Formats: sequence, structure tokens, C-alpha cells
Amino acid sequence: MGSRIVATGRAVPRTALTNKDLERYMDTSDQWIRSRTGIGSRYAMRQGESLADIATDASRTALERAGVKPGALDAIIVGTVSSEYAFPSLACQIQKGLGISSMPAFDVAAACSGFVYALQVADAQMRAGDFKRVLVVGADALSTMVDWSDRRTAVLFGDGAGACVMVTEAGNRGVLSSLLRSAGEHWNLLSLRSTGIRATIDSEVRRCADDAIQMKGPELFKIAVKRMEEISRLVAARAGVKLEEIDLFVPHQANLRIMSAVAERLGLPPGKVFTNIDRYGNTSAASVPIALDEALEQGRIHDGNIVMLNACGGGLTWGANLIRW
Ligand code: ACO
Repeated sequence: MGSRIVATGRAVPRTALTNKDLERYMDTSDQWIRSRTGIGSRYAMRQGESLADIATDASRTALERAGVKPGALDAIIVGTVSSEYAFPSLACQIQKGLGISSMPAFDVAAACSGFVYALQVADAQMRAGDFKRVLVVGADALSTMVDWSDRRTAVLFGDGAGACVMVTEAGNRGVLSSLLRSAGEHWNLLSLRSTGIRATIDSEVRRCADDAIQMKGPELFKIAVKRMEEISRLVAARAGVKLEEIDLFVPHQANLRIMSAVAERLGLPPGKVFTNIDRYGNTSAASVPIALDEALEQGRIHDGNIVMLNACGGGLTWGANLIRW
């Protein structure tokens, strides 16, 4: 018995901030951001908005599309590193939002790889027979964790949530293989000391440099390309799938140049790579499920297609899921 994604959903904050908007806050330009990252705008939380609400909205959409009532779920697993609360988990907050009383609900902390990790955990527990219907969510609000005067990081991140409903199913569709990796020795390439303060772009509170996201961008770039290529080859080989059989590659949307470099190394033509970074920026754990949801909406995925989800992020963490749709 395996697991299959039967529906997806996404939700974002109300405000879209363009690169031009950011020029008001820091010394940057639309031209620099677009040419170095592929980002044109991103959704950013404002005061009064809550990641739990956004993640619950994405979850409701996925559940409605799946025709699964919240009470029929066996578990909620959430990839996140930026919940309003250190505890309770974001999964418990979503559970409350959906009005479900007793079930396992927990978070997985793997930064930008959070959704890929959460999906693997769900798939493994479903294969073990523990759960039949699982809600898997990726949600983050890293725009509230940046130093808004640091142009090297603040322009990159956006906020949002993506969700999917997974059900156990016999047959050859569903998750074929997943692989997760981490390398703690690279912890300081991308890090954040505390999560308490929500320094939204419109708040008076500002994160000081020490308490904001710290990133060694160029080093991260090189390692991400290498690791994302490597894990793609490994997960495909493990499933007995040739890279040329992949119909759609849905990578973490961190940087258009990272995605292009990985695809080129894997021999995947641009038409097989899904990107939406121009409108979302890097939404961390939300990026893969938001991209998956848009890919489905745009008719880019058909029954029987081979789809690879792939991510790399702080930790360092990386991983991939190979799915027959
Ligand atoms: N606007 C204008 N100028 C800028 C900006 C900005 N927003 N940011 C940096 N610059 C300047 C720098 O100050 C530097 O100027 P200097 O040469 O006078 O010192 C110049 O641009 C070049 O800076 P670099 O950091 O070398 O630029 P690079 O081409 O490496 O691009 C970037 C930076 C976009 C961050 C890139 O390294 C990158 O994408 N790295 C991966 C980071 C990432 O994706 N992190 C997300 C999480 S990890 C993951 O998801 C894989």
C-alpha cells in the first residue's frame, strides 16, 4: 500500500510587494533583483495577519477539492520554521482552525525543505499502516524574519502556505520514492536565532541584524545546485526511473538561476521545469506545495506523469520526492 496526493491548495497574505515597492525601503532595484534571482514580486504578511490562518485556508481548499472532511483525517504534518508560536505547533493551530478534536498533529523543521520532509514522513507512516488520510502542509513567513534594511536577504523571501491531502492507495500511482539529507556542518550558511518577533514590513518593530536571517548567499548557491542535482539522481535511481522520464520537475523556488542550473545538469529542458518564483519569491517550506498547486491548476500535470519535487534549504537540508501522478 502506498500514498497518493489527491488534492492541493494554497493561500497567501493579502499584500503583494513588487521589487519597485522595495526600492522605498532599501538600496536595491527591480533590475538587480530580477536578473540575480528571477523574483518580480512576493506576498508579505502585514500586522494582524497570521500564518496559522493562511495555512488553514490552504488546507481547507485542499480538503474541499479532495472531498475529505477535516474529521476524516488521521494526521496533520506541517513543514515550517516560522510559526507565530514556538509551541503549540503550527499543525496544532491548523487542527484547531479546522475544528478537529483528537489526532496526531506535528511540525517538521527543515527550513525550505520542510514540505519535502513532511511528505516523506507522511508517506512512510502511511506505508507502515499508521494513517490512511493525511494533510501535509508547507507554510512559512520568512518576510517577518528579515532585517528590512539588509538588501542581501530582504528581497528574497515571501510568505504563504501550500497544502495537500494524501490517501493510501494500492497500485502504481503515488509516491514512488523519497530521499532526505542534511549536513549540519553547513548550519551557518543560512540561520535565524529567534522566531519570536514578527517584524512585518509595516510594523514599527525591526529585527536587529543578529536576530534576522543570516545568509551566505553565494556559498549556499553553489551547494544547493550540487545537492539538488545529486538527490534528483539518487531518488530517480532508487525508483528505477530515468531522468528523461520525468514529466515535470517542481523545485524549491529559491532562485531562478539555481533552478536553471540544476535542470541543465539533469538534462531537463526548461519546459519540464515549473517556476513561479517571479510572483512569490522564496516562500521556504511553502514554495514546493504552492508550485505544485499552480502546476496542477495550469494543467501541467496529467494522470500517469512522473513528477519530481525537490528542495534545499537551511540546515543544510535537502531532499526529493518522486511521484507517479
Ligand atoms: N540589490 C542591489 N544590490 C545587491 C542586493 C540587492 N538586493 N543584494 C546584494 N547586492 C549587491 C552586493 O552588495 C554586492 O555588491 P558589492 O559587489 O558592491 O559588494 C553585489 O550585489 C553582488 O552580491 P552577491 O551576494 O555576490 O550576489 P550574487 O550574484 O551571489 O547574488 C544571491 C546574491 C541572489 C543571494 C545569490 O547568492 C543566491 O541566490 N544565493 C542562494 C541564496 C538562497 O537562495 N537562499 C534562500 C534559501 S537557501 C535555498 O533555498 C537554496
